[in-house]
Amino acid sequence: MSEVPSDIYTEPDNVDVDTLANLGPLTKLAGVWEGLRGVDVNPKPEGPRRQAYLERIDLQPIDPQANGPQLLYGLRYHTHVVKPDEVETYHDQVGYWLWEPATEALIHTLTIPRGQAALAIGKAARDATSFEVVAKRGSTENGISSGWFLEQAFTTTEFRLKVTIHADGTWSYFEDTVLLVKGKSEPFHHTDGNTLTKIGEPTPNPLARAR
Ligand code: HEM
Repeated sequence: MSEVPSDIYTEPDNVDVDTLANLGPLTKLAGVWEGLRGVDVNPKPEGPRRQAYLERIDLQPIDPQANGPQLLYGLRYHTHVVKPDEVETYHDQVGYWLWEPATEALIHTLTIPRGQAALAIGKAARDATSFEVVAKRGSTENGISSGWFLEQAFTTTEFRLKVTIHADGTWSYFEDTVLLVKGKSEPFHHTDGNTLTKIGEPTPNPLARAR
């Protein structure tokens, strides 16, 4: 954890408003992506079920964010997942990817319409091509929060997401959501992974467009 400065209010001056030029390890994630080879392992009464899925991820730069002296650059994302040849939403997720250049801290927020939210953290150098973020149940800094049903029936104890950026411009992720399923003695590893190919360029953030 970094030390909190004595002045927690004054924002940095000379902030570069061009987010796309300041995203460090997140730079290559900006844009619109398609993944056609997703694999999900989810909990069913009879045991783990494996399901192929198609995915679209929109990752767009936001204006620089200052918490007093702390400066964050980031992307707002929306993930939409369907089963092959189906229209119905299979998984939906929104949140932010944030990077703090001064400390190399990474923050990934996620909310899903099951009534669940998490904030996962990690660290990555400006030129990193692989990074991981983790959220843990009970933490106030990188926690997981669920509505009453999930909290009791599918208690989520950990969320871990690893991203790898490839030399050809594609990137992959693998995530592991650990669930304590009511009535089962062993933790369940609800996993997802996919490789994303770019189908659209990012739109520069509002302040960069205005400049
Ligand atoms: C591509 C990503 C994901 C896909 C395709 C996916 C899909 C699924 C599916 C099919 C189920 C089984 C229950 C059902 O059929 O409704 C499930 C359960 C669940 N998922 Fe995911 N999931 C994904 C990511 C996540 C993430 C990131 C989290 C949370 C960090 C999460 C949390 C849960 C929980 C708590 C359950 C248990 C609830 C239940 O089974 O009714 N999932 N997911």
